[in-house]
Amino acid sequence: MVPFIVVNFKTYKEGTGGNAVKLAKMCEAAALKAKNKVKVAVAVQATDIFRVAAAVDTAVVEVFAQHIDANGQGKSTGFVIAEAVKEAGASGTLLNHAEHKITDIAKRIATAKAAKLATVVCAADVAEAKTIASLTPSPDYIAIELPELIGTLVSVSKANPEVITSSIAEVRKIKNIPVLCGAGIANGEDVRKAVELGTVGILVATAVVLAKNPEKALAELIKGIGEDGK
Ligand code: G3P
Repeated sequence: MVPFIVVNFKTYKEGTGGNAVKLAKMCEAAALKAKNKVKVAVAVQATDIFRVAAAVDTAVVEVFAQHIDANGQGKSTGFVIAEAVKEAGASGTLLNHAEHKITDIAKRIATAKAAKLATVVCAADVAEAKTIASLTPSPDYIAIELPELIGTLVSVSKANPEVITSSIAEVRKIKNIPVLCGAGIANGEDVRKAVELGTVGILVATAVVLAKNPEKALAELIKGIGEDGK
């Protein structure tokens, strides 16, 4: 399976509006150099999906929504609709991020699937990873992110490797869903460690979005995937 790096722009000023386009293009430049080795996606705000998707080659850097609602087309004023996100140029969505918890996860996955959006569903601990693995329909990825490490640059893969290995083991008992990890990922070494623990990639924000040189920062993370892409 191709390793996957998701750069979450969150609502950082550095990742909003015109800055989102600039940042996505830097991510594209880093991804282009590693095109066959790693899949890269940028998770942008709903209001930036269209402009970012129009500015980059989405075959090189995919554009993800940070969230979708479960509502369908029609009478749902103000909601973020899967079909609209897809139409704007996204190919996937994050769901249930620690900063945007939801309860009806299965319904959102189904909504996303119907609109042909890939899903990365976040879990805050092993128990939640198990719950998500049991859902029907299944997400394409489960991302284990310890909320307390988010934004700290103290990597989950080093600070709490057990939560990653246990999540992978528990998920596998239920279904073979690829697991990503995130929170505090700071450098290539953290990524190397995450992959070594059995994840297929990472979610990252601070280390890229707030970097002096985001292209260089992402390139450094990609390096951590390893030469053979495994
Ligand atoms: O979605 C990724 C994110 O929550 C991790 O954030 O800033 O610790 O890389 P950060």
